[in-house]
Amino acid sequence: MVTLDQIVQFAKSTGFIYQGSELYGGLANTWDYGPLGSLLKKNIKDAWIQKFQRESDYNVLIDSSILLNSDVWKASGHVGGFSDPLTECKSCNQRFRADKLIEDHDKTVSADGWDTDKMYQYILDHKVTCPSCGKHDFLPIRKFNMMFQTYQGVVLEQANQIYLRPETAQGIFINFKNIQRTSRKKVPFGVCQVGKSFRNEITPGNFIFRTREFEQMEMEFFVKPGTEMEWFTYWKAFCMNWLTSLGLPESSLQFDDHKPEALSHYSNATTDIRYKFPWGFDELWGIASRTDYDLKAHQLQSGENLTYLDPDTNERYLPYVVEPAVGVERLVLAFLTSAYDEETLENGETRQVLHLHPALSPYKVAVLPLIKKEHGEKAFEIFKTLSKYFDVTYDETQNIGKRYRRQDAIGTYLCVTIDHDTAQDESVTVRNRDTMAQVRIPISELRSYIEKQIEF
Ligand code: GAP
Repeated sequence: MVTLDQIVQFAKSTGFIYQGSELYGGLANTWDYGPLGSLLKKNIKDAWIQKFQRESDYNVLIDSSILLNSDVWKASGHVGGFSDPLTECKSCNQRFRADKLIEDHDKTVSADGWDTDKMYQYILDHKVTCPSCGKHDFLPIRKFNMMFQTYQGVVLEQANQIYLRPETAQGIFINFKNIQRTSRKKVPFGVCQVGKSFRNEITPGNFIFRTREFEQMEMEFFVKPGTEMEWFTYWKAFCMNWLTSLGLPESSLQFDDHKPEALSHYSNATTDIRYKFPWGFDELWGIASRTDYDLKAHQLQSGENLTYLDPDTNERYLPYVVEPAVGVERLVLAFLTSAYDEETLENGETRQVLHLHPALSPYKVAVLPLIKKEHGEKAFEIFKTLSKYFDVTYDETQNIGKRYRRQDAIGTYLCVTIDHDTAQDESVTVRNRDTMAQVRIPISELRSYIEKQIEF
């Protein structure tokens, strides 16, 4: 399996991901997505929207604000409770997440659901060492709120203080009434949202796995109380199927069902889909049955009635919610590590290739004139036509073999070559990235051929 270092190197050198603010020495744990990375991200989001909203009978899409009224975060419990347990090494003053220190000290231990006293006692009893200086002398644990604070308007005073959202979910809950009324959806129905979230993580790291600014794709699925377990099972399978149909192998994925004692107070069932990242299995996607906790909290805080009236039975109730929530960057890392390959060819050469599902490939097609001077004009014309429908790249430098290798390495699914025969037979050669097999296709059929090849 590819190492994390290999992927970081690969991502930087090809233009998938750069160090954030590199020109000024960087800003720790921030990353910028280059020409290829931004297309990969877009394709992941499109594939999610396609299956969760566009092809779904149940779901709609919204785009709510990053900045929300602070009462939202009071109601949701984030102001009081969205914190991580923070400890500090007395010797070197490095700060750590206490639960992660414990879990790294003994990989068989999970500190999920432990209170700060229990964590601190464990650290003392087991003489947990500081990963930075090797001593074992930590300060008592305190709760560190992870929400980023900022100010709205021109006066920096308490009244103007607001937060950057730490999740997209609350933007959906506070719009529940608006969405239900205007879309005229009947329960069960779901609301999808894709957008940036911000968390002042104590220990960001593992490249793009845990960062302070990231993108989430969340769905809140509103159901009749009592039916939530059925839907929880349904969406668990749906999420897993989405991942495997986009090429992640089943053997690299597992469900981690949370034990009852480790459930959050608002949840009656939670599972994580874990992916085998280069450092081991880790959380990719969280799926939680959240009861009516959020709607109830907003109903209380806002004083608005958020109940739903079932038009068929005349029953009135607060819907329960099933929520699958995933980070786009974690998916980027999972798809990149899974797709990356260095193959040895029959002639002994090594081929670097990114076996991304074609729906995710940054470029679906590369258009290549065999000889620039002779075929360049026709090739460029084909490039212009295809780029109306697909993400296409054009490359006319170096020999054709080198150009194929370059496209393989960035995951381009098809290479279309314009050669001596094209002028006579109005056809081109199409080469497949994975099999390297070539077929001759009439230019007039190129668009429909490509569409079939990249279907998701
Ligand atoms: N609304 C529920 C919620 O936000 P979460 O488990 O805190 O749940 C959902 O986050 C997903 O968002 C995670 O499974 C992960 O994929 C992604 N995520 C969370 N924190 C992240 C971070 N600091 N960096 C990157 N992705 C993150």
